[in-house]
Amino acid sequence: MVLKQYIGILAVVMFAAGCEQPLSEKPAAADKTATITPFIDVPQTEMIASPDGRIEFTVLVEDGHLKYGVTMDQESVIAASNLGMRFLKRAAIEDDIIITGLEKSSADTTWEQPWGERKTVRDHHNQLVLSAYSEQAKLEFDIHVKVFNDGLGFRYEVPAQADLDDTAIIDELTDFNVGESTASWWIPSRMYNRYEYLYRQTPVADIQLVHTPVTLINEGGIHISLHEAALVNYSSMSLKQTREGVLEAELAPRSDGTKVRVSGGFKTPWRTIQISDDAVGLLNSNLILNLNEPNKLGDVSWIETGKYAGIWWDMHVRNKTWGQFENGAPTPHGATTEHAKTYIDFASENDFIGVLIEGWNIGWDNDWFSNGDVFSFTEAYGDFDIAEVSRYAAEKGTRIIGHHETSGNISNYENQLEAALDLYQEMGVGSIKTGYVADDGDIKWVDEAGVARFEYHDSQRQIEHHLNVVKRAAKHQITINTHEPVKDTGLRRTYPNWITREGARGQEFNAWGVPPNGPDHVPNLIFTRMLSGPMDYTAGAFNLRPSELPPISDTMTRHDVRSRIEHTLAKELALYVVLYSPIQMVVDSPEVYDQRLGAFQFIKDVPTDWDQTIALDGAVGEYAVFARKDRQTDDWFVGGVTDQEGRDYTLDLSFLDSGEYEAQIYRDGEEAHYDTAPYDILIESVNVSDEKSLHIKLAPGGGFAIRLKKL
Ligand code: NOJ
Ligand code: CA
Repeated sequence: MVLKQYIGILAVVMFAAGCEQPLSEKPAAADKTATITPFIDVPQTEMIASPDGRIEFTVLVEDGHLKYGVTMDQESVIAASNLGMRFLKRAAIEDDIIITGLEKSSADTTWEQPWGERKTVRDHHNQLVLSAYSEQAKLEFDIHVKVFNDGLGFRYEVPAQADLDDTAIIDELTDFNVGESTASWWIPSRMYNRYEYLYRQTPVADIQLVHTPVTLINEGGIHISLHEAALVNYSSMSLKQTREGVLEAELAPRSDGTKVRVSGGFKTPWRTIQISDDAVGLLNSNLILNLNEPNKLGDVSWIETGKYAGIWWDMHVRNKTWGQFENGAPTPHGATTEHAKTYIDFASENDFIGVLIEGWNIGWDNDWFSNGDVFSFTEAYGDFDIAEVSRYAAEKGTRIIGHHETSGNISNYENQLEAALDLYQEMGVGSIKTGYVADDGDIKWVDEAGVARFEYHDSQRQIEHHLNVVKRAAKHQITINTHEPVKDTGLRRTYPNWITREGARGQEFNAWGVPPNGPDHVPNLIFTRMLSGPMDYTAGAFNLRPSELPPISDTMTRHDVRSRIEHTLAKELALYVVLYSPIQMVVDSPEVYDQRLGAFQFIKDVPTDWDQTIALDGAVGEYAVFARKDRQTDDWFVGGVTDQEGRDYTLDLSFLDSGEYEAQIYRDGEEAHYDTAPYDILIESVNVSDEKSLHIKLAPGGGFAIRLKKL
């Protein structure tokens, strides 16, 4: 009640702020050591709008507190919300704040991605830099805001000033007042399995602590995604419901209990709010990339995109093992020289960029989850001749894709990193998949005093680790694909060799997950996890019932059919279009593909690097359709996926360029159903142009994939 009244008052103030405000010059630097009264000649409220005028960000000081709010078409997106932060050894930026300067500017530029969903990205925004002083903290700071047509970002910038060495941030007070009854799609945060949870849809009222991106649809139907951009030298932001309908920034703690340690001036990541009338607007947004800094690596023409095979899926469905022994007994080791060569032949025949080889190095025997301290990143098992395999790969025009599983022991990895990168570079490796299998909070490193510390996967220490690996790998012309990573915040723009990552439940859960990824998992991923950036989902399972083995532990219960992929074959093909990643795995074995060469043709044809991407249609968690244009040819590719509901869909082809195309269509057959008839697929071809439409039936748990070959 009290809260509502308060919001009402603030809303009035915010709309008032929407009227023309004189833009004042930044005042001459005041003497910040003296007490500053709020009655200086700078308005204590300001509004900045998006270039199209629809989105407005208002910021103001009220009773000494700094607040903001966001509207679209005058409708509330974020009602009155707090800004501020608390420190360990100094007073907070919270009370007694005054605005000391306001500067506005605009920009409209374009920039090119070396690889990506689209080649050219437009960065069109209006910007506000608000300077403020906290009398309580005795600190000057800026709030930097950029408002685009697809949303906005704001960050705190605290410039270097007296007394700011070795500061520990213990809480960020930023919150997002989105309303209790707003619908939300989320995964829990600070739980053992990192980001690997099924998405849940609830009102905001049921949120406790969630990871970002979190997707919201408010009562007015406005679609919102809350996330962050450019997470560097800080800790990751989860969101905690602190008051009804209010989500507050909850930073991942460091092992010493503080949240972030900084020295001198610092900047927080951008707190981002993507805003759209509809679901596809979120998918077509470039906000996260636009808020990251340009490429810092210079010439990155050595980066390779494409598809890769691997000695991988067989381990997950337990036909092979990563190690050679279990409790002293020999096991069917996957990464042998001979087996690697068969996969190299397969990759070479299909023009794949490489073969991922997991389990090649010493350390996997017995329970590898707990082997973080024994992994060697330079010593191969006796039955794997790395030099011979790399020679053979080069001869066949492909490469080894490297693998470094750390089991969360980052000190062991950091100590060997340079030697490990040297070895792989010498072996012609262009990309390494890294792995951090460990419960959240169990990332282990040893500090200068020799004391073991345990960190979260999204803590400041781990974020520093990832960037260190990425930057050093770049020096060896190697790209990094991180599994059990920190979430993506768009740093691929700045470090384009951070090529993809996991950071959600991927295909592996269909081998041993309890339960497996359900038919709605991919439609959920598209509107949540995928808003942060590329994902190494590892698609291409053609055996949709890979194993009937019992659950991997007695504590697991599982529905009666085990190891199953709960969608149709046509949907598995569609994943290559709807789940963007510049490197895409082709998980199954050559023998399995040999049985379905018709459907395999789509995997051979689909590219992984795009000139253009258009999300055509969709509803959060239900279905999505994407059209993407190849960077190398004039061909377009379309992919559509649905949840457990079947759908009749009309695909309007007006996105095509002019001229004739051959549509090679892979769609669900009449009987297709994810549960009862997953293999029922129809493959057909028809000539079309941009004036035509295609009617396509999607089965429950189904999808479609189309190559539009320019004639
Ligand atoms: C988990 C990764 O997601 C998976 O792809 C990998 O095979 C295992 N860790 C072993 O490193
Ligand atoms: Ca994983």
